[in-house]
Amino acid sequence: MMLEGKTALITGGRGGIGRAIAARFLREGARVYAADLTPEGSLAAHDEDGSIFLKLDVTRESDAIAAMEQVAGEVGQLDILVNAAGIEIEKTIEDTSLEEWNLSFAVNATGTFLTSKYALPLLRKAAATGRTASVINFGSYDGFIADPGLAAYCATKGAVHALTRAMACDHGPEGIRVNAICPGYVDTPMLQSFFTGEGSGGDGKTIDQLQQAVRDVHPTRTYGTPEDIANLVNWLASDEARYASGQLWVLDGGLSAQVQQMKL
Ligand SMILES: NC(=O)c1ccc[n+]([C@@H]2O[C@H](COP(=O)([O-])OP(=O)(O)OC[C@H]3O[C@@H](n4cnc5c(N)ncnc54)[C@H](O)[C@@H]3O)[C@@H](O)[C@H]2O)c1
Repeated sequence: MMLEGKTALITGGRGGIGRAIAARFLREGARVYAADLTPEGSLAAHDEDGSIFLKLDVTRESDAIAAMEQVAGEVGQLDILVNAAGIEIEKTIEDTSLEEWNLSFAVNATGTFLTSKYALPLLRKAAATGRTASVINFGSYDGFIADPGLAAYCATKGAVHALTRAMACDHGPEGIRVNAICPGYVDTPMLQSFFTGEGSGGDGKTIDQLQQAVRDVHPTRTYGTPEDIANLVNWLASDEARYASGQLWVLDGGLSAQVQQMKL
């Protein structure tokens, strides 16, 4: 088991990707805190998965402090922090209200900042045992290239990418590695709402047709599953990744590697 004896906290831990990470971490022997707004997260059904639910709104400083106090009281240290909480507003800047812009940054960027800030003392304690502590942020391939109609989201993910590098530089000497996962299309409630939302450019297409169109545009002719993402998160969280830090790990089936062919 790759994470035996380690403690992990996952924000958005009851969302599509967060749950897959929690399940993988549990199989690898970790103690897992799943932090989210509600026990159900983005999924309607609430299955007990063995993780410990922590009520945490990542936009609230007091919630971050309380969550870390609980982990400190119960375990005393934190080996792995995954900042996976996120929202996506599907609009151009013209259609985005200031409230929507601020909320996007509050959850995706400030949430990553706040949770990490208050986790650092516990991460340092884990690193002091001689094993590396690991922070894994969630960027997106949208932080490099833009999907139309996702302006605020793209901007927040660019911010997370820059923050990841800064955190890696500042805290690497303390034994804390910091990386970002940058997924392409991953089959979760967030992707389903993209298919049905204003930003999908659906033009009357059925969900099946939209899904097939997205698959067709990938070099691998498929989009990702939450488990695909959890596989890389698990490696980055483990001591096998002791030399991996400060990087933006794109997992997108080759989508961002290809130039769109011109039809001349
Ligand atoms: N699904 C994709 O295609 C995709 C692609 C690129 C990046 N990502 C990123 O991956 C991460 C996980 O996304 P997902 O697809 O699992 O989405 P999801 O909607 O299934 O899950 C997101 C979770 O975050 C939680 N959340 C939202 N606001 C919160 C807050 N203020 N405090 C605490 N929790 C909050 C939600 O309750 C939900 O459980 C996000 O950061 C997302 O931007 C997803």
